[in-house]
Amino acid sequence: MKSLNVHAESHCYPIIVGAGLLDSAEAVNLLKPLIDNRKCMVVSDSNVAPLYAALVSSALVKAGGHCAETAIIDAGESSKTLNTVEGLYHEAVARCLDRRAAVVALGGGVPGDIAGFVAATFMRGTRFIQVPTSLLAMVDSSVGGKVGVDLPEGKNLVGAFYQPEIVLIDLNFLKTLPKRELRCGLAEVVKYGVILDAELFSRLEDCTAGLLDYDLELYEEVVTQCCHLKAIIVGEDEREQSGRRAVLNYGHTFGHALEALGGYTALSHGEGVAIGMGMAADLAVTLGLAPAELPARQDALLSALGLATRYTVSSLAPAQVLQMMYRDKKVESGKLRLVLPRRIGEVELVADVDEEAVLKAIGGRCG
Ligand code: GLY
Repeated sequence: MKSLNVHAESHCYPIIVGAGLLDSAEAVNLLKPLIDNRKCMVVSDSNVAPLYAALVSSALVKAGGHCAETAIIDAGESSKTLNTVEGLYHEAVARCLDRRAAVVALGGGVPGDIAGFVAATFMRGTRFIQVPTSLLAMVDSSVGGKVGVDLPEGKNLVGAFYQPEIVLIDLNFLKTLPKRELRCGLAEVVKYGVILDAELFSRLEDCTAGLLDYDLELYEEVVTQCCHLKAIIVGEDEREQSGRRAVLNYGHTFGHALEALGGYTALSHGEGVAIGMGMAADLAVTLGLAPAELPARQDALLSALGLATRYTVSSLAPAQVLQMMYRDKKVESGKLRLVLPRRIGEVELVADVDEEAVLKAIGGRCG
């Protein structure tokens, strides 16, 4: 087992990583001071709950939690709505949850973001515990306190920063993760290498087979390192005010636009991010920021992990993608701000990027 701490300005908390964690006495010991004699509501989805809700409830009950039954939402991004949140508020009232209660997120990014938003707002805030089950949630969304929902106009447009009390990452949960979802998480893992850690990037290049083969020892190392990198960034800029935290969105402005144009079904988040990182890397070369060989090296790693680096789902006009990118939360005063690589292991946030160059970068990988 590995453990590390997030030192966010609002709150410090531990992340524990290990195979079999939720089945262990250690998990019960960690949970006890957080939930002893408190009501709990586990929020999970229709894919994950049948697999792991009983295990998590049992750990909560052993740690002294009450009412640890699971509230189940439909699996998928289409559940990440205010409507779902309202349903969970009603459920919380029906279960007599009070301010001392704990809301426990069990699942990937969608249950995590929704449960966190419920925890942040129900009775103006209850305790919040993250138990991520997808690779993407383990390395990204369960750490750092971004919680919220989508609107029909765009992803994550309503939300809050609300840190969990603890993040419990049981790597055994990866064993049931479908390969497509594993790959999506790997796109975020590659992102950490490009933005912050050249050594991690090289390590990933050397172990693509193990990653695709669900090697849990390897995942303990990789997930811990990604969480460590994210913890550093969140410690420096919890509320994305200085621009430091924005580096975590490398590839995301392009990727979110592609996801939205595919109606959130043609491409999943990680697939959009993989293609978006390709567009950002090409753009960095065009602007003279990155060496010419960077996009090919990044593409080679993503392809070896089974991720597409071009959008081939349908034909999209670059102008359509650009228009959608203006809905990104990093747009300031109507100007795009994009995270672009300088080299593997270093990126910068570039403001007011030339539109023609952005269109060229999009057109080079779709249409
Ligand atoms: N997923 C990006 C962030 O947490 O800031």
